[in-house]
Amino acid sequence: MSFSDEWPEVFVLDCGSSTFYAGIAGEDAPSCVFPSCIGTPKYSPIMISDCTMKSGYIGDQAIKREGILNLNYPIRNGIIKNWDLMEILLDYTFQEILSKNTQNSECEISDNESRSILFIDSILQPSSQKNHLMQLFFEKYGFGSFACSPQPLMSVYACGTTTALSLCLGEGVIQIVPCYWGFVDNNTTRRINFGGANVTDYMIKMLSENHGICLEGNRSIVDQMIRKIGRVAEDYDREYENSRMSSEGHQQYELPDGQVLNLSHEHFTCNEILFNPQIINSEYPGIVDIIQDSMQASNIDTRYGLYNNIIISGGVSLLPGLADRIRHDLAQLIPKSLRLSVVAAPERRYSSWIGGSIAGSLESFAEMAVAMADYEEYGCEALQRKKRFFDCFQP
Ligand SMILES: Nc1ncnc2c1ncn2[C@@H]1O[C@H](COP(=O)(O)OP(=O)(O)OP(=O)(O)O)[C@@H](O)[C@H]1O
Ligand SMILES: [Mg+2]
Repeated sequence: MSFSDEWPEVFVLDCGSSTFYAGIAGEDAPSCVFPSCIGTPKYSPIMISDCTMKSGYIGDQAIKREGILNLNYPIRNGIIKNWDLMEILLDYTFQEILSKNTQNSECEISDNESRSILFIDSILQPSSQKNHLMQLFFEKYGFGSFACSPQPLMSVYACGTTTALSLCLGEGVIQIVPCYWGFVDNNTTRRINFGGANVTDYMIKMLSENHGICLEGNRSIVDQMIRKIGRVAEDYDREYENSRMSSEGHQQYELPDGQVLNLSHEHFTCNEILFNPQIINSEYPGIVDIIQDSMQASNIDTRYGLYNNIIISGGVSLLPGLADRIRHDLAQLIPKSLRLSVVAAPERRYSSWIGGSIAGSLESFAEMAVAMADYEEYGCEALQRKKRFFDCFQP
């Protein structure tokens, strides 16, 4: 078997504000998942150690040393803000994909000509970002073709359906895309630059004000706490009131230094801002309000099918109680005759990647990708010529 026969063709990347999900099309799950950060030392080292390395620590290695490093995330609210750091993370990603997927030490990133890239990104991105990425993937990394597709649509793909309301909840972006028989009306999609990062910020604030603990420089400890004991209340006001009257439902959490926190309500109040951002004086609407806004903009004929298949995805969708709360709040707002179904697939943390893995293994993938020859002929305009997957998601 020749090298190109045995080598998987499409690299699928979902590069988020907090996490990179990367791997090869056709696989069930991304083979590389790591925090999208680079840590550089806060203090000058006084002992000779590997701390002096130039580009800093990447991903989990950086998070592990959070106390002594400044963590830099090149992507904020789903938008690439620092291209130099982004390139360091992309170099690392490709090395990781190659090392995890081949025994052949000869395989190099310089062999990319026979490979494609599928970059999964958030909706309503500036087109300059796509152009810059395309330039990078062709000119620096030498890929044979490049395609780009929106996360919420890929999450619908992952569920094997074509009619759904897709709700992606990430670290820095919340996106809503109603998809009806595979069609998306641009006027119905919604995006807010709000998400898990705001939940973490609010938890840090409450821990400081209510418990006198400063964890500002240790966000990963707070993230861990939210993952372990965080939940979404079904009826916030009632549960908050109960937490004041009785200790039933209070949560204990042990910090790495052995200190034990007794949380009466913070573990569900922090997540309440997703439904009611006014708690932190944000002007953004809550999740259910955005769903309703998007539904009101959708054609009346489509609503039955959309309410009946609300697909949630992204890291924040793992919060216990989130699907029930969406169902509960929406049920108060819509006619009883409409069937309401909120789908929380077990692999929902990275279902947009899975959708990309499926799309990247279809024969029709070649139609959605810009080939190197097209890029050489038309430059960045080549992307605009690929209508199918882009047009409705341009700002
Ligand atoms: N088990 C969990 N319970 C609650 N929250 C979680 C869990 N796992 C991850 N999260 C939160 O999900 C967020 C990360 O989600 P995700 O990986 O989808 O974001 P991202 O893709 O990096 O960012 P974005 O798509 O917004 O640019 C973080 O805020 C993280 O704390
Ligand atoms: Mg994401």
